[in-house]
Amino acid sequence: MTKKSKKEVSREIGLEVGYLCGNYFLKMNHLHYGYWKDNLELDITNLHIAQDEYAELIVSHIPQSVKTILDVGCGTGQIDKLLIDRGYKVDCLSPSNYLNNKIRELLGDKTNIYESTYEDLQTEKKYDMIQFCESFQYIDMEKAFSNTHKFLNKDGYMLICDIFKKDVPGKCAFSGGHRLTRFDDMIKDKPFKLIDSLDITEQTAPNMDLMNDVVQNVLRPAIDAGVRFSESRQATIVKFVKWLYRKKIEKLKRKYCSENRTGEEFKKHKLYQLLLFQKV
Ligand SMILES: C[S@@+](CC[C@H](N)C(=O)[O-])C[C@H]1O[C@@H](n2cnc3c(N)ncnc32)[C@H](O)[C@@H]1O
Repeated sequence: MTKKSKKEVSREIGLEVGYLCGNYFLKMNHLHYGYWKDNLELDITNLHIAQDEYAELIVSHIPQSVKTILDVGCGTGQIDKLLIDRGYKVDCLSPSNYLNNKIRELLGDKTNIYESTYEDLQTEKKYDMIQFCESFQYIDMEKAFSNTHKFLNKDGYMLICDIFKKDVPGKCAFSGGHRLTRFDDMIKDKPFKLIDSLDITEQTAPNMDLMNDVVQNVLRPAIDAGVRFSESRQATIVKFVKWLYRKKIEKLKRKYCSENRTGEEFKKHKLYQLLLFQKV
């Protein structure tokens, strides 16, 4: 495997920490935003239900002929457990050793795990469907299309369920997602035909309001209190550390703590869609 970049390492650690906190405090097993149905109360304790709904949504869009699936960026393997329980033969792929160990605990020898990025995948195997659930955004698109074409059986399917960036003016408080116009431009020349598409921005955006609530009402005050405590003990050292890392601290505050990380902001700048393509 090629050496991981700093960005890849910090992303993996971010996912690990997200999983540890979410799993411990909220019974959360998946690593995606969830699918908030109209009748589900927007409460943090319901996040695990929204996540299970998302997994069901994926399963409900699998074409009937599909028997074998490669789950690219499989996270904790929860969607894969559901797929295996429903009779599919599933292989998992993720570059994260930590998450892959969780899958080993969950699924044992019911799955084969590729510990690799998708870009670097080497295998002779082919699949009826290759899926990307909130993982497509991390993968080089050119390589994703060429590899998917290579690793799919004849008439196989590519399922992408992820965020895309809309071309709208202004800076967005959220990062993530390939630019939609670039994706559309690229896919139209690739040997895939669109079979199904569903816009689920409205059902994923509530997660942003929830996370914003946690950050503004728990995380920020907790960090502020921690800093005040440290200042009361070691004022000079804390001042120095704050000065030394001032740029990083500002960047982190802008990225994770800005107050406009809301569902409305998400809907303005992002499109979350489920796309099903067939290889031609
Ligand atoms: C947000 S999580 C989504 C996990 C899971 N699909 C889910 O829906 O719960 C993103 C996943 O993509 C994986 N990932 C990140 N970069 C990748 C890459 N270049 N190739 C394959 N997987 C990647 C991460 O390890 C993680 O498992």
